[in-house]
Amino acid sequence: MTAAPASLDIDFVRAQFPAFTTPELADWVHFENAGGSYVPSQVIDLLTKFYRTTKVQPYGPAGPAKAAGEAMDRARQLVPATLNAAIDEVHFGPSTSQNTYVLARALRPTMQDGDEVIVTNQDHEANIGSWRRLADTGLTVREWSVDPDTGLLHTEDLARLIGDRTRLVCVTHASNLAATINPIPEIAELVHRHDALLVVDGVSWAPHAAIDVRRLDCDFYLYSTYKTYGPHQGLLYTRRSVLDRLENQGHYFNADRPTAKLTPAGPDHAAVAATAGIVDYYQALHRHHFGPSAQAADRSPVDQIAAVYNLVAAHEEALMTPLIEFLVARGADIVGSPDTSRSVRAPTVAFTSRRTDNAAIVEALAAAGIGIGHGDFYAPRLVEAIGRPAGVVRISMVHYNTVAEVDRAIEALDPLI
Ligand SMILES: Cc1ncc(COP(=O)(O)O)c(C=O)c1O
Repeated sequence: MTAAPASLDIDFVRAQFPAFTTPELADWVHFENAGGSYVPSQVIDLLTKFYRTTKVQPYGPAGPAKAAGEAMDRARQLVPATLNAAIDEVHFGPSTSQNTYVLARALRPTMQDGDEVIVTNQDHEANIGSWRRLADTGLTVREWSVDPDTGLLHTEDLARLIGDRTRLVCVTHASNLAATINPIPEIAELVHRHDALLVVDGVSWAPHAAIDVRRLDCDFYLYSTYKTYGPHQGLLYTRRSVLDRLENQGHYFNADRPTAKLTPAGPDHAAVAATAGIVDYYQALHRHHFGPSAQAADRSPVDQIAAVYNLVAAHEEALMTPLIEFLVARGADIVGSPDTSRSVRAPTVAFTSRRTDNAAIVEALAAAGIGIGHGDFYAPRLVEAIGRPAGVVRISMVHYNTVAEVDRAIEALDPLI
């Protein structure tokens, strides 16, 4: 049996990402990962191969059409396995925002006029707007609101809001600004006790952890693969027993194809195929850190990714700890919990300073070769609720970032915060 490695081999990780050896990006620190991540060779190679050799209508009987279908099917098999989902339970769509719109339309006929949908004001608008619009169709929309002092949600508040007419609760796994992890299994238990369904936006959490939809016990889980080291695309998990009750949104003659039900148009074929490269990347990390031993090979895909993400968690904690401690020491106002534990939050740190305005901070860091952002990041209800109408500055890191990059950011922030 191979001994578990002590830590993430960051040199090996970075060697998988061509961006780090691209001359135009040499010395650039990418700290806007919550907006979109870099992509490893495993993904780029599959995308290139698809465009070079199989860019035809897929699923033909022979030649490139057959190979294209096989490349897509490989992703359709690998990706659900890493989520602990069945093949039929995962839809590949253009984006999370579009997937929620399709899902809202598919769910509406399962509800009666006067039924209730609960949304938060912590979410990105992608997991609010499509549900709020259902109010125009006779549903009642209620808001589970954050604590205005912290930007955090409390499950007790949901317990007070949820009732006999609640059919759906929509919440983020971790907000793209507050970044604190919401207790999804606990929320799912409460929601299911009321016979309602749970939609989880995992866009800001999926880049940081293995997602096991069975353990989370949610009915829908959405995330965007362009933030999880893959091509621009949205993935939607739907529990099979729930999928059967939804109205078909695809062509009527495809109604009996579960994976077409929530994909009204054909997906981006090349992007679907290249999504398998994310799994190839995780498996390369697993092999590198745990060895090709029988024990390692016997691990299920979800367990392999979980093993990799245990190493990632420790590394991400090492990244965010000095940054959060610096910001707290300087009296910056951090959104969400200032706890530095990765079991509490993602390494996305949104804040405002009483000394320097948001735009000036972002400009100063850009001048130092560090890419961060400011604004509401499409969560205007959250920045409003916490009294920061001008938005926040956001530094968002992932596992390929280094402690040296964090040191550079702290040095650049030092005269400003
Ligand atoms: C938390 C969160 N949810 C949803 C979205 C929307 O994702 P997409 O661009 O795939 O629609 C984003 C995008 O930034 C996000 O951060």
